[in-house]
Amino acid sequence: MIYADNAATTRISDLALAKMLPFLQEQYGNASSQYSLGVKAKRAIAQARRQVAAAIGAESSEITFTSGGSEANSWVLRGAADFFKEEAIHIVTSSIEHHSVLNACHALERFGAEVTYLPVDNCGVVAVGKLIAAIKRNTKLVSIMLANNEIGTIQPIAEIGQYLHSRGILFHTDAVQAVGHIPVKVSELRVDFLTASAHKFNGAKGTGILYKRSGVALPNLVFGGEQEHGARAGTENVAGIVAAGYAIEESAGVIADESRRLSAMVKNTVEGIKEKIPSMKVNGDSECRLPGIVNLGFDGVSGESLMHLLDLKGICVSTSSACASGKDAPSHVLLALGLSEQHAKSAIRISYGRYNADEDVKEIVLAIRDAYDKITAGK
Ligand SMILES: Cc1ncc(COP(=O)(O)O)c(C=O)c1O
Repeated sequence: MIYADNAATTRISDLALAKMLPFLQEQYGNASSQYSLGVKAKRAIAQARRQVAAAIGAESSEITFTSGGSEANSWVLRGAADFFKEEAIHIVTSSIEHHSVLNACHALERFGAEVTYLPVDNCGVVAVGKLIAAIKRNTKLVSIMLANNEIGTIQPIAEIGQYLHSRGILFHTDAVQAVGHIPVKVSELRVDFLTASAHKFNGAKGTGILYKRSGVALPNLVFGGEQEHGARAGTENVAGIVAAGYAIEESAGVIADESRRLSAMVKNTVEGIKEKIPSMKVNGDSECRLPGIVNLGFDGVSGESLMHLLDLKGICVSTSSACASGKDAPSHVLLALGLSEQHAKSAIRISYGRYNADEDVKEIVLAIRDAYDKITAGK
C-alpha cells in the first residue's frame, strides 16, 4: 500500500506509540486518583501539556486537550457566541474553512448571529483588505484557518492577527493542518485561540488541542470534575494526550528537513504527471502552501474515478476532504477558488507525510498516468 492521504490522517509515529502504550496497559490509572498510579497519569498529562505549549510558543496553562480538532473548533465558535449572548454579534470567517467551523457558524446563524463568509482569490487566499472592510461595530470573533486541508494554501494569519489585536477583536485560527508541518508560534500569529489535532501530526486519533490566550474568557464545554482546568470535565484520554505531546515535539524537531523533502516530492509529482498530461492543473497557491499537500485537476476526468483506479493499485489519495467525501457534492473549497462544478469534480488531493519515500512518488506518477489513459481511452 502507498498511503498518500496524510491530510486526512497520519500513521502514528513509533515514538508516540511507544510512549502511549504503557498508559493503556501498566499505567492505566485515572489521572484524578490520589494514589501513585493516578499521580503518574496526572504528571504525564502535565508533561504533554508542556510539550505542546513549547511547540507552539504558549504557556502550559493556555493548553486544553479535547477529543479532536472538530471539538476544539466548535468550542471556540459556540463558546465565543455564548459569551456575548446578550448582544447581536457578528462573526467573520472564510468560505473555505473546514466544516467544523462552517457548520458551527451555520448553527450560530440559527441562534441570531450574523456571519460573513469572506471570499478567497483563485489561489485560495483571503485578502486582508476585504477582511478589514468586513469588520463591523459588533464583530466579536474572526475565525480564519492557518492552512487549508484541501489545497494546502497558507493564510496571512500574522497580518490579520496584528490588525485584530489592535481592534480588540477575538481571533481564532484553525491550525489543524499546519501544526507539526510548518513552524507555528502563537505570539507571532497574535491569535487568541488556536486549534490543532494530534492525528494530523503522527499522534493518535481522538486528541485535539485548544490554545486559549491567557486572560481570554471562554465558557466551559463539559460540566463535571476539575479536569482540563475545569473547562472540559471528564476522565482524560491519558494515552492519547501523551502521544500528542511526543508527536508534536518529534514533528517540531524534523519540520525543516521534512518541509524540504515533502516539497521536493510534491514538485516531482507535479512535473512527472505534467510530462504526460500537460493539461493537468495545480489548484491553489503553488508557492504559499503546506509542503506535503497538492490538489490536482484533470480536466474532463472524474477525480472519483481516478481515486478508485489508484485504490485498486493500493494507492490512497482523496478526492476532497475526508469529512466531505462520500457525498457527491463538489468541494466547497474548489468552488470558492472559482472552479466550475465539473473542474472541482475532476480534482484529487495527494498529501505526503513522514512515512512516504521518493519511490512512492514514482509509483503514484505512473499510476495516475495509467489511470488517466484508461479513463480517457474510452472517450
Ligand atoms: C482544517 C481542519 N480542521 C479541522 C479538522 C477536524 O479535525 P479532527 O479530525 O481532529 O476532528 C480537520 C480534519 O480533517 C481539518 O483538516
